[in-house]
Amino acid sequence: MRDYDFKTQPSLLIQGAMDTETAYLAEKLTEHEQIHIGIYSFHTGFLGEEPVVLSRTFQGMTNAAAATSLALVHFSPWAVINQGIGGGHDKRFHRGDIVLGEKVVPIGAQIRAFSPEGTGIDGTAFEPLPIEIFNTKKGAVEKVCDFPCDEALLCAAERVTAGVRAARGVIGSGDEWNNQLDRIALLRERFGTAVEDMESAAPAQLCFSYGIPFIGIRILSNSIVNGEEFDESVGIEGQKFILLYVEELSRMRKLEK
Ligand code: 5AD
Repeated sequence: MRDYDFKTQPSLLIQGAMDTETAYLAEKLTEHEQIHIGIYSFHTGFLGEEPVVLSRTFQGMTNAAAATSLALVHFSPWAVINQGIGGGHDKRFHRGDIVLGEKVVPIGAQIRAFSPEGTGIDGTAFEPLPIEIFNTKKGAVEKVCDFPCDEALLCAAERVTAGVRAARGVIGSGDEWNNQLDRIALLRERFGTAVEDMESAAPAQLCFSYGIPFIGIRILSNSIVNGEEFDESVGIEGQKFILLYVEELSRMRKLEK
């Protein structure tokens, strides 16, 4: 047994909302220990040489934010990977394809234009609503409309050859599941989204605030724009990609040393 203190020594935080996004990776952990903090479970262990904390966040933004905050207090992540399944917005991505997040956009953060009573609801009359964050690097508050993913983490993800199609794209994230094709087209037009999910904006925001490298990675479980129905089992393929990705990150970190 390695004497590794996950509370103080650096680890890679890998998050997934559901079992279909975490169980395969949990099985692969060596020196696996499970820790419960409140309602959230965290698995510590090693993937190859890499110390990892695997977090099952449950679905949605509040859960993802709470699980991230707890992880930041109880562990010492050098980077955060929020991964799992998602729904396609961009026709070029099909079910089973992977979007490597170049940035995460909180698609629910919208300010809607005034309209008088009785004039109906124009779903297109909104602008992105900047979110207030405390940027610890600047020591000041700022307002942002999106959260960039870390370029070195992205480049490493692009080097993974896993036999699946993976490419950069924008991840839209909010407590919503969109099926209206015109609304998806509008979200694409306003935010440039390739895929949507219900968690990644929360850890992306917190990592941006705390200055921790972050990446979102989503495998498409459905693509309404291509008429491809929901199949959550692709979450396993997503985790297989993550396993290879962690190997690549280990190589990257060895070279850096
Ligand atoms: N829209 C939003 N979230 C989706 N997910 C999969 N497909 C979609 C979609 N089309 C992800 C969410 C959530 C769960 C329902 O799966 O991130 O965790």
